[in-house]
Amino acid sequence: MSRKKVVETLRWRRGRLELLDQTLLPDKIRYRPLKTYHEVSRGIRDMLVRGAPAIGVTAAFGMALAARSGARLRPAAFRRHMQKAGKVLASSRPTAVNLFWALQRMGRLMEENAHLAPAVMAEKMEAEALAVLSEDIEINRRMGRNGASFIEDGDVILTHCNAGALATAGYGTALGVVRAAWEQGKRISVLADETRPRCQGAKLTAWELSREGIPVTVIADTAAGSFLRRGKVQKVVVGADRIASNGDVVNKIGTYQVAVLARENKVPFYVAAPVSTIDFSLKSGDEIPIEERPPSEVTTMAGRRITPRGVAAFNPAFDVTPARFVTAIITEKGAVRKPFRRSISALRPRRR
Ligand code: MRU
Repeated sequence: MSRKKVVETLRWRRGRLELLDQTLLPDKIRYRPLKTYHEVSRGIRDMLVRGAPAIGVTAAFGMALAARSGARLRPAAFRRHMQKAGKVLASSRPTAVNLFWALQRMGRLMEENAHLAPAVMAEKMEAEALAVLSEDIEINRRMGRNGASFIEDGDVILTHCNAGALATAGYGTALGVVRAAWEQGKRISVLADETRPRCQGAKLTAWELSREGIPVTVIADTAAGSFLRRGKVQKVVVGADRIASNGDVVNKIGTYQVAVLARENKVPFYVAAPVSTIDFSLKSGDEIPIEERPPSEVTTMAGRRITPRGVAAFNPAFDVTPARFVTAIITEKGAVRKPFRRSISALRPRRR
């Protein structure tokens, strides 16, 4: 893989955050500079940046920006300012747990260093956000290596949504598995579900794989079952926005039907996600809040209305895939299988 073609999802430049505006892909590569935590929250909500790990890393920089802007406040006022920033950032999107994971990590750093002057704290917050970013890339590489062992030479891999470099700080989760297998010399190819309504598969997965020369073909979401039934797919690999402690997986709307169809056709269904995507506090996927996005994402395509005027539309952004449909969950600490309650609890971090 030619490294120079790997794109940066987000970057920190001279004290401000630059987000690759994913709403403009695949047509334009444009970075949006963000200077305040309010701008960061809007960037997440409006999906300039998206994908669970990328949202987490972005939120960490949101807290770093908040600390920077409050560095001259007195300690008590600084604390209130940071609490408000945490609340605003937490309200950006509800489903991907990595957002809350990153905010908790930044909040813990504040608590552990409560004695420090705000200006010093601001520097620490910036360093921590940079650590979250570089750790995410390293975690994805490890996850990729762990997952590549499931992929065989010649496999066609079906994926849904975009769980790639664009959904993380780099390399990707599900597409990290694809990249690692490709780097090992396996001749594989990817079938990308287009992923209506926002078409992350057609726009983003197809874009990032094709520019690296990894064979990718886009199919309509409605075609996935037919490809699975005709034996055209050897593995399904997807990412996750939140995983409950029983192994239920919440991911982009449409993942559930792919998982059921994979089971029906005896095709392994893998989920690649970092441990930070596991919500150990939840017993099952039914407890995970599912974001409802504007109906206009369904009633329009490429800015044009496609449904009759006045007809309603529902737009849940995610669904729950029950654990029984999941062959294995691939993490940076290794792959876990059923019974998930036991195997997932062994992944629980002791600290941080
Ligand atoms: O609404 P999005 O684009 O943020 O949804 C993204 C997904 O569902 C991804 O599959 C998931 O976050 C995993 S990303 C590594």
